[in-house]
Amino acid sequence: MSQPKIFISRLIPSLGLTLLNEHFQPDTWSNEMPPTREKLFEKTKGIEGLLCTLTEKVDADLMDSIGPQLKVISSMSVGVDHIDVSAATQRGIPVGNTPGVLTDATADQAFALLLAAARRIPEAERFVRAGKWVTWSPSLLLGADLAGATLGIVGFGRIGQAVAKRAQGFDMRVLYHSPNAKPAYGATSVDLDTLLKESDFVSIHVPLTERTKQLVNADFLSKMKPNAILVNTARGGVLDQSALYEALRSNRIQAAALDVTDPEPLPMESPLLSLENCIIVPHLGSASKKTRDMMSLLAAKNLVAGLRGERLPHCVNPQVYG
Ligand code: GLV
Repeated sequence: MSQPKIFISRLIPSLGLTLLNEHFQPDTWSNEMPPTREKLFEKTKGIEGLLCTLTEKVDADLMDSIGPQLKVISSMSVGVDHIDVSAATQRGIPVGNTPGVLTDATADQAFALLLAAARRIPEAERFVRAGKWVTWSPSLLLGADLAGATLGIVGFGRIGQAVAKRAQGFDMRVLYHSPNAKPAYGATSVDLDTLLKESDFVSIHVPLTERTKQLVNADFLSKMKPNAILVNTARGGVLDQSALYEALRSNRIQAAALDVTDPEPLPMESPLLSLENCIIVPHLGSASKKTRDMMSLLAAKNLVAGLRGERLPHCVNPQVYG
C-alpha cells in the first residue's frame, strides 16, 4: 500500500517526529524560519495530512490548493486562530490541537510575567547592567505586592484556572470573568466591569475569536485601576496595542507584560519597545522542553488518527463526525 503524503511545516521536537517517522515518510520543513506562503502552497499540494504550527496560516485557499484528499490538519498548539476551522469543517476535515499538556507551562509563564512586572525585574536588570547600581536605597525600584492584591482573570478555561491555582499560593484574592465557567480555586465570578474596577492585576486567557478581537481596547484600559498591571499570554490580537501604548505612556495603568503581540515578531519600531513599564517576550508560553515534547507527541497522534480515519484524540471541530 502506498504511504500517505504528509507535510510537517516546522522541525517539531523528536518525540512527535519519531512517532511519525515510524509510520510514514513525512516531508519535514527543517529550516529555522517557517515556510513562506508560496513554499507552503508548493509543499502541501496533494498531501493527506498536514502538521502545522501557529506560524502557518491555514485558510480556505490553502485547503483548496492542497486538494480534496486532505484528511487531517493537526496543529502543534492549543490556539487555532491561524486555521480557518469553519472552512475545514465545511470540507469535512478534522482539525486537531494540543490542549492540556501546555496548561501548567503557560500558567507558569503568566505568573512569571506577573511577578516580573510587579517587582520590575527586567528594568532592575537593565539598571545593573547599565552600571547604575551605586548603593542599596530605601526607595530604589519599588514594586507591587502580590499578597492581599486582587487578580482578575479574563477567560477561565484550563489555563485561567491554573493561574488562579497559583494565585492561591500567593494569598491573592481572585476574580474571573468567563461565560459559563464554574468557580474553582477560590475564584469568584464577576462581570467584566467589576473585574476591571477591582483588580490590581489583570491576566488575559481567552482564545482569539471575532468576539475577543481587540477586547483589551481603550475603553477596557480606562476601567482598570491606575496601579493595575496587565498580563497577556493569550494572543496579540486580543489587545489594541496603540491603546495599550497610550495607557502605559500616560501612566493610566502601571505596567504590562506581553508574551504575545500582533504581529509577531513585534517590529523593532513599535513604540511599546520604548517603554520602561512594558515587558515583552517572544511568545514563550508553552516553551518548556517537556511541554513542547508532549505537544509534538499529541500533534503527531492527532495526525496519525486522522490519516487512519479514526477520531482525533483532540479535535476542535467534532461536528465533522456528525
Ligand atoms: C501557543 O500559543 C499555543 O496556542 O499553543
